[in-house]
Amino acid sequence: MSKILILSGAGLSAESGISTFRDSDGLWENHDVMEVCSVEGFFRDREKVLGFYDQRRKDIEDKEPNDAHFMIAEMKNKFPDKITVMTQNVDNLLERSDCADVLHLHGQLTELVCEMCGNIFDIGYRPIKEYSECPECQSHAVRHNVVMFGEAAPMYQRLYNELMRTDLLVIIGTSGNVLPVSQFASYTKYSILNNLDESWAIDNSVFTHTFYEKATTAAPKIKQLIEQFIETGAIS
Ligand code: APR
Ligand code: ZN
Repeated sequence: MSKILILSGAGLSAESGISTFRDSDGLWENHDVMEVCSVEGFFRDREKVLGFYDQRRKDIEDKEPNDAHFMIAEMKNKFPDKITVMTQNVDNLLERSDCADVLHLHGQLTELVCEMCGNIFDIGYRPIKEYSECPECQSHAVRHNVVMFGEAAPMYQRLYNELMRTDLLVIIGTSGNVLPVSQFASYTKYSILNNLDESWAIDNSVFTHTFYEKATTAAPKIKQLIEQFIETGAIS
């Protein structure tokens, strides 16, 4: 069965008002990314990092999905067995566009993880101090369920497994600084890239189609190509 993988990054949520990493040139909401998004920074100043994620969690509460989220949700819900949706984003805008089975490669802001038993639980947009203990083991060692630089991303194995059986790869809004998306595209028969601008980390010649424009502008064209692929097994 021909499989489609839709893999997104921060550019998917840019038009919903969530700043991307590279647009803020190495800062994330005025913090040095490595200070608040790395294991080292977490060891150095746990409270500062937990407070940073509290702020990010609060920030996404009033954000709304955009037409690109809704397009992904529509395609996933229409072809649930043919399409896998993965994102590097830690916001919940795909869930809020009613997309089923979203796989988060870098975790989710609305969740905490227990450092003792690994239990992951949802806290919505609330600050971590309101959830001081793990509901499973009552440990107080709970933290944001977001993958930081310097730690493993358990979901990457799932990503590689998916790529091995993907015939059409759709990349929306990622600079390829963390995931080698051009290499991924070289594994698949067909591939689509949608970014706002060229990235030094992406060789766009390996993609069947490239759209350098806003995700909401490219969304209907990508939808058409996905439907063409589902119908014919190819994209022209
Ligand atoms: N529509 C489409 N693409 C967009 C838009 C938009 N409106 N705005 C920005 N982009 C594109 C940019 O061209 C860029 O290629 O989105 C990409 C954003 O790149 P990054 O900021 O590097 O975000 P991302 O690729 O998701 O970062 C990957 O790095 O910092 C870590 O863990 C973090 O998940 C993140 C990972
Ligand atoms: Zn626990």
